[in-house]
Amino acid sequence: MSSGGAGGAGPGSTSSGGGTATAVEDLRLEIPVQRPRRVENFVALCFAVSVLATIGLAIIYSLGGQTQAEGALLGVGLAGIGIGVAAWGKYLMPQGPFREDRHELPTTEEDKEAFGAAFSRGAVAVERRGFLGKLLGAAITVFSIVGIFPFIRSLYNPRPGNALDFTQFRPGSRLVRIDGNPVMADDVDVGGVLTVFPEGHEGDAVSQTLLIRASSVPITTLPGRETWSPHGYLAYSKLCTHAGCPVSLYQQQVQQLLCPCHQSVFTILNGARPIFGPAPRLIPQLPIMDNGDGFLRAQSDYQEPVGPGYWERNTSTTLNPPKNKAAG
Ligand code: FES
Repeated sequence: MSSGGAGGAGPGSTSSGGGTATAVEDLRLEIPVQRPRRVENFVALCFAVSVLATIGLAIIYSLGGQTQAEGALLGVGLAGIGIGVAAWGKYLMPQGPFREDRHELPTTEEDKEAFGAAFSRGAVAVERRGFLGKLLGAAITVFSIVGIFPFIRSLYNPRPGNALDFTQFRPGSRLVRIDGNPVMADDVDVGGVLTVFPEGHEGDAVSQTLLIRASSVPITTLPGRETWSPHGYLAYSKLCTHAGCPVSLYQQQVQQLLCPCHQSVFTILNGARPIFGPAPRLIPQLPIMDNGDGFLRAQSDYQEPVGPGYWERNTSTTLNPPKNKAAG
């Protein structure tokens, strides 16, 4: 059997600047560095950096969070543990190779004594093994504690309740463009499309609505929606019911909406029913009106939650609506 060690240590002890490596008789038990103290310091530094990064992650998370900083600190914390353990294993552990020949049982007294002696020598080859072990334990412990922070935080933060069920549209809200200008009934030609918001909430992500002039006359998309589309205007939430991407591509010729994220296709004349792709539900339609002053207004808020599904969402009104064709 050959030696895998390269330490060059002879019998007895050698002092080598960065630390003292105790020489061993069995060269396989040598560690591959001549200055283990330096590697020990490096490993300790890795674990300490991991602890500090994880504590920093906990502080930032507790203060409200900042995604990029949290990601960076999480990466440093994990990298510190990983690099430290890798360096420990690569440079501070006996290199072998170890091969045990078949031998007769039971172990002789000589073998036991030889093993005990070899084990003792291995224990002193790295002087601060206990210290590094404790530091590694501290790094993993801190990491584990921080890992349950989201659960603890969820216990103290109020649940969203029914806040996800509503947008900012109210009965009588004027439909306005992103710059706040209200939309008049004759502003959009047949075939045209516009992104609108409730007045006073321009840019509100949840309320963004696609206003489509599908016809010059009212359209009934589903039973009960006979008055929802004055002058042929259809207003649908802009949030895809699959994963919430903005459904912004209107194909005028076939009167379909296309979600660019996963290619769900919705037909606008029958309630924005999905006919292709992963979207599971119709896009909610906003009931709008023209009460005589020329402005397009919301009759009410959406009558069902907009956007993708979520835990405890009431889907009873949208999963299986009747399949009717558009009425012109
Ligand atoms: S988000 Fe629209 S299809 Fe996936």
